[in-house]
Amino acid sequence: MNKINFTVNGERYSLTGSEVSPSTTLNDYLRNSLGLVGTKAMCHEGGCGACVVAVAKEHPATGEKHIVAVNSCLVHILSCHEWDITTIEGVGNRRDGYSELQTRLATFNGTQCGYCTPGWIMNMYSLYESSEKSLTMHQIERSFAGNICRCTGYRPILDAFKSFAIENDQDTLKIKDLEDLHEMQCANKCTKKCTKEEQDWCFIYNNSKSNLLDIQMEANRWYKAFSIEDVFTVLSKETADSYRLVAGNTGKGVFPIIKEPRVFIDITSISNLKESIIDENLVLGAGLSIHEVMDIFRREMKNDNFRYLEHFHRHLELVANVPVKNIGTIGGNLAMKNAHHEFPSDVFLIFETVNAIVTLVDNNLKYSEINLQKFMKTDLKNKLIVNVKIPPISQKHLIRTYKIMPRAQNAHAIVNAGFHFNLDAEDKVISANIVYGNIATNYIHAKTTENFLKGQHLYSEQTLQKALDLLNTNIKPVEFSPEPTPACRKAIALGLFYKAILSLHPSPNTRYKSGGAELSRPVSHGTQTYDTDKSMWPVNQPIPKLEALTQCSGEALYVCDTISTVRDVHVAFVLSSICLGEIVKIDPSEALKIRGVISFFSAKDIPGKNTFTPKDVPFMDEEEEIFASKKISFYGQPVGVVAAVTRKLALKAAGLVNVSYKKSLTKPALTINDVLVSPDKNKRIREDVTVTATDKGTDTTHVIKGHYYVPDQYHFTMETQSCTTEPSRRGVCVRSSTQWMDMVQVAVAKTLDLPLNRVDVEVPRVGGAYGGKATRASQIACACALVAYKLNRRASLVMPLTDNMDAIGKRQAAYFEYEVGVNNDGLVQYADIVYYSDSGYSVNDNLGSSIAMTMTTLYNKTRWNITGYSVITDKPCNTWCRAPATCEGIAFAEHLMERITDATKKDPFDIRILNIDDKNSPILDMIDTFKIDTKYEERRQAIKKFNNENAWKKKGLQVSMMMYPIEFSGNFPVSISVYHADGTILISHGGIEMGQGISTKVAQVCAYSLNVPLSSVTVKGSDSFVSPNSMATNGSITSESVAFATIKACRELLKRLEPAKADLKEPTWQELVKSAFNKGINLQVSAMTSELDKLPGYPIYGVCAAEVELDVLTGNHLLTRVDLVEDTGRSLSPEIDVGQCHFR
Ligand SMILES: Cc1cc2nc3c(=O)[nH]c(=O)nc-3n(C[C@H](O)[C@H](O)[C@H](O)COP(=O)(O)OP(=O)(O)OC[C@H]3O[C@@H](n4cnc5c(N)ncnc54)[C@H](O)[C@@H]3O)c2cc1C
Ligand code: FES
Ligand code: FES
Repeated sequence: MNKINFTVNGERYSLTGSEVSPSTTLNDYLRNSLGLVGTKAMCHEGGCGACVVAVAKEHPATGEKHIVAVNSCLVHILSCHEWDITTIEGVGNRRDGYSELQTRLATFNGTQCGYCTPGWIMNMYSLYESSEKSLTMHQIERSFAGNICRCTGYRPILDAFKSFAIENDQDTLKIKDLEDLHEMQCANKCTKKCTKEEQDWCFIYNNSKSNLLDIQMEANRWYKAFSIEDVFTVLSKETADSYRLVAGNTGKGVFPIIKEPRVFIDITSISNLKESIIDENLVLGAGLSIHEVMDIFRREMKNDNFRYLEHFHRHLELVANVPVKNIGTIGGNLAMKNAHHEFPSDVFLIFETVNAIVTLVDNNLKYSEINLQKFMKTDLKNKLIVNVKIPPISQKHLIRTYKIMPRAQNAHAIVNAGFHFNLDAEDKVISANIVYGNIATNYIHAKTTENFLKGQHLYSEQTLQKALDLLNTNIKPVEFSPEPTPACRKAIALGLFYKAILSLHPSPNTRYKSGGAELSRPVSHGTQTYDTDKSMWPVNQPIPKLEALTQCSGEALYVCDTISTVRDVHVAFVLSSICLGEIVKIDPSEALKIRGVISFFSAKDIPGKNTFTPKDVPFMDEEEEIFASKKISFYGQPVGVVAAVTRKLALKAAGLVNVSYKKSLTKPALTINDVLVSPDKNKRIREDVTVTATDKGTDTTHVIKGHYYVPDQYHFTMETQSCTTEPSRRGVCVRSSTQWMDMVQVAVAKTLDLPLNRVDVEVPRVGGAYGGKATRASQIACACALVAYKLNRRASLVMPLTDNMDAIGKRQAAYFEYEVGVNNDGLVQYADIVYYSDSGYSVNDNLGSSIAMTMTTLYNKTRWNITGYSVITDKPCNTWCRAPATCEGIAFAEHLMERITDATKKDPFDIRILNIDDKNSPILDMIDTFKIDTKYEERRQAIKKFNNENAWKKKGLQVSMMMYPIEFSGNFPVSISVYHADGTILISHGGIEMGQGISTKVAQVCAYSLNVPLSSVTVKGSDSFVSPNSMATNGSITSESVAFATIKACRELLKRLEPAKADLKEPTWQELVKSAFNKGINLQVSAMTSELDKLPGYPIYGVCAAEVELDVLTGNHLLTRVDLVEDTGRSLSPEIDVGQCHFR
């Protein structure tokens, strides 16, 4: 029988096909079949890196072994034939010892919520192993474009990994202090000392590779070809109407596969496709990965005829990310461009710049060579791309290629461009190739400009002007939502032409010269300092997070990490496909026909109340529906759920539920501006707050008018909204990724019509929340609980990124209109400000009124008239997001100060100081010190000089300041249990650990209060039995609220221990506990912080300056330096708090 073989962490596996489906990825298999849940997933598109694993495989052409990082979410499990796969569990674990990578990342505080962490470790592990442990800092920093971390701000992660670089003196590293964390051991399960050779990867399966593998899945077939002939044998045998060649399979990260093909042909082991040779041309096998091609370019660029490959190599560095480039092939990329002409392929662009030729073979084994423009018009059905030939080009030809992206790494091109000029001895153009990407679907060449340039002197002013005029006329970018506007893309296209000419010009004017250079990012570095008071330790002691090592090893479990049993069901929302209207009928019959789809539920199936925002929960003004019962209020609104035996099946089935609607004829209002001009404006706008000025100055010399917009913002948690619910003997047990257990408990109980004491809520930890999982998580919990309750089976709902973005609200956008009068010094004489805050379709989470307060936390508001409104738009209910209201208010106030600075031409700090409310404010001292420490004046002068000397590169230095008012509110219980046999302490509290280090801080406070070693305290996840009626973990107050409750509980415990202590002379903690136990003293204690404690709030001040360098011709920019100082008072745990301040 045909089967595929592979190993995972050294254990062998074989698959015959019957065990998997056409969509089973390596990630699915690891997590669901092998229970290796340390490997996470989020985007399923190759973009976030949460799923990275290391793979050792053999190159089919050279036979060489190599180790690469791959995105397990993209790889089909049947592609893994003869792969040795290592997951995070194989790198190091509690039982066998943690690896140095894991320990070092933990020590450097490189984890917060930890959800992204296994992916980072695995990418570094692959890099480190494949480079024979010889990496530079530059190589390390450039290799993580494919890993997203939304919590840490990256700095500590990069610091940890760069500590492995060859530039570092390993002896001086922090690694010496690791004893605190864990003893480092080899992760291999043997005891002998390894030699280097023995640590090399082994290949257990070295079967004959010549025979075509034919693997039958249920209705689909998977073939593994070993020759080009194999491919066509399959195609003629299958008369394939529906097939897909599988190379790296990364294409589905760009263009998702909507309908699985009937036949898959794995072409990765065809050695001809992996060859590269130089005849006259450089011939690159179509099956070479982009990384392999980069290696070839690096080698061949030393050859005179291929010097231009230096530019191509640099260009390919900007393509995708390391794991995608490790397996994504040039053939796959070109085939994608062939199928989707709008795809801004960089591979296509660079090849077309030098008129590359593609070799195709068809089902008659006939080979043909065509240029890329013809290739674009060729139907690839029953054809295989064999190779790409790129020509030798003399150094008289001038070549430049560019890629302008929305981010510095791992982003598609907003515009990409290739320029290739062949000049004669007098610099006259013999031929010109000007290639652009992302202009319009079929736009490739700037033909008119190419023709004009022939015979012209390339470096003359007239030629330049005329060429730019022609480009301006002929480049007509089309609107590609959500790409930047056509005007922006045209400006970049013209800027790139000019940049290319400037960079090629032998002696440009010195003011213009730097316009020809590209911005280059140096290796980043950062330093942090903070005070620590040793007399308070372990409080205020800088320590790594207690959970850091379990996060670095994938042992920290999240809500989605439940290991499935066969009875489990997976749940997916059915989302509305219209924006406004009514549901007429829901027909799930097509979905229910699929084997493995269990059920569909909608509003009518809810036994209790159809709301996830019951009014018994604080702040809830409106009862939002779990599933729309009739009225549709926004695109993406949940209308029901499907339950199926796998997540993929549930998602597929959700797409097959047929919902018919009566569409409303009203035009939806999707932005604040839409509302301001809508006919029902009055119904949609609610006045929230009015602040009236008590004073008005009379010295107005400048009047500044304008508007300012803070856009909405997706929270982008690496763990999407998730819930697992299990029926229990009493009711249900809900494991939710929520910031607010109490809300989930109340909402689920009301939904299921159960008393609250029958609904248990547990939150093990949350993989990033930032406000998005406060009120919104309860909708996911209610839907999931309904399924579990109705089916009496454990149910799991993990929202895909797309559903999460469609169905869940975001930061409330805010729009400000203002008029301000100032005097010559910049002192505000009057300010009239009106602002609007976008609630979405419900005002439940609207914090618009608070913006008025937060914009004047620092500045004298006696002259400010402020009116704030909430507006209703036809979108999901927007919600709290990282410093909600404060962020918008402060951003606006600082914008205003910048406008005043511009108008008065004064120093930005002076303007702010002049308008500060409290002339004794601590921020004034902070500013003085900050200016000296950051060499502010010198840098401003240097920037001024730079800007005068450079026409097309500019630098800027922006300062901003803030005061964040901490105010305590809400109930936060803590329960502490002390165990008599060894005196160890376990805490559970009502806060939610989501990366902010609350549990570490609470343990520090407990250890300090009881005067016991920190190592004797551990903290478990939160639950609603131990911590009932807890407030949401929000607003930067929970750690301190819980810490206060911990102090109260510890005091109570110490009081209880007094009688036991009285009988003993200077007892140890263990002796004291034992004696108390013997005396029948209760060693479990609980306490709560609430408003009754009247905890005083306090202000947090911050000053920041950011320096940027801008490439005016392309819009590219670099953040070259950031200085940030924050006065947070005495920190409970400074290393953790540095992470919290850092680059949020
Ligand atoms: C996160 C991410 C970021 C990316 N960023 C960029 C970027 O910045 N710039 C850029 O240019 N690209 C980018 N890409 C695209 C990437 O380069 C391609 O996905 C990759 O090169 C495709 O190769 P593959 O081997 O994975 O193809 P596969 O996914 O295996 O196949 C893709 C298609 O090509 C066909 N095919 C594959 N090989 C052949 C062949 N030899 N002959 C005929 N047909 C074939 C297959 O049938 C399939 O239809 C990105 C992709 C991802 C996932
Ligand atoms: S890259 Fe695989 S889940 Fe995001
Ligand atoms: S620690 Fe990286 S996403 Fe939270």
